[in-house]
Order: sequence, then structure tokens, then C-alpha cells
Amino acid sequence: MGSKKYLVTAFVLAFLVMAVVPVWFVLGAVGGEEAHQHGGVTIPVEWFTGKLEAQQEKYGLPDGSVRLPPGSTVYVLAQQFAFRPNTIRLVFGGNYEFIFFSPDVYHGASLIQSGSVNMVIAPDMTARVSIKATQLGEIQLLCNEYCGAGHHLMKGKIIVE
Ligand code: CUA
Repeated sequence: MGSKKYLVTAFVLAFLVMAVVPVWFVLGAVGGEEAHQHGGVTIPVEWFTGKLEAQQEKYGLPDGSVRLPPGSTVYVLAQQFAFRPNTIRLVFGGNYEFIFFSPDVYHGASLIQSGSVNMVIAPDMTARVSIKATQLGEIQLLCNEYCGAGHHLMKGKIIVE
């Protein structure tokens, strides 16, 4: 599977620690949460890739997407030039915490919808956001930081169903 390949890549890059960048956004309406921030922590990259692999095993669908129940933490690798998993299915009305991680360069995560969200994912770091899936349908997940030749190809999607 493709997931094995990128996990191996991440291990080879062997970043030792990462910090959590406190960035929050709302997907739809989360009352009063806009400015709230997480504190930072550092965790080894192996921890992240382990979570990613477990997520794929537990929630992966045959089409390569993941479908997570409400209350889940969603792990997303942001790497030149893709988000993995590329397609994330959420349950309408559910609360989720997203944790992004970049093993290479600066990336962005932008959600194009009403009350749109923009965040920066710094290299060797995670970026965390909490969302409530209040908008049915497909939401584009775009990289909004120039990260190299394939920057414009770096997009994923979130499907609220
Ligand atoms: Cu990743 Cu632009």
C-alpha cells in the first residue's frame, strides 16, 4: 500500500522532535472557540507515523480514504506534495481534533468553505486544530504555503457525510 511507502520516507527523514503549533479553526460554527489555543508539546516523529499507520489500519476504506467516528483525533501528514490520508470522511455533527505534521518544509492547510480556515504547518512540527463538522459535503483541503514545484498539486479533501 502507498501508506507504507510514505511512512518509510518519514522514518528515513528521522526528525527527532516536533512541537505543537497552537492554531485553531472552526468548521462551521463552534461557539466561542475561535481564539482558543492548545499549549505546545514535543513528540517524536515515530509517534506520529505510528498513529498514522494505526489510523489507516483501523479506519481505512478500500478507496484509500479514512472514515473516523465523532470524537476522533485525525492525523494528517503534510509532505511534498500531498496530504496523507488524502481523503478524510467525517460524520456530520461530530467534533474532531486534527493534528498535521510536516517532515520536510513549510506547508499550509486551508479549508475552503464558509468561515474558512488557514493555518501554517512548520517543518518538524505539528499543527493542531479542533473542528466541528457542521457542513455536509466536500470541503477542499489545500496547501496555502509555497512548498516547491508540486505545491499547486497539494490538495486533499474532507467529506462530511
Ligand atoms: Cu505544501 Cu504548498
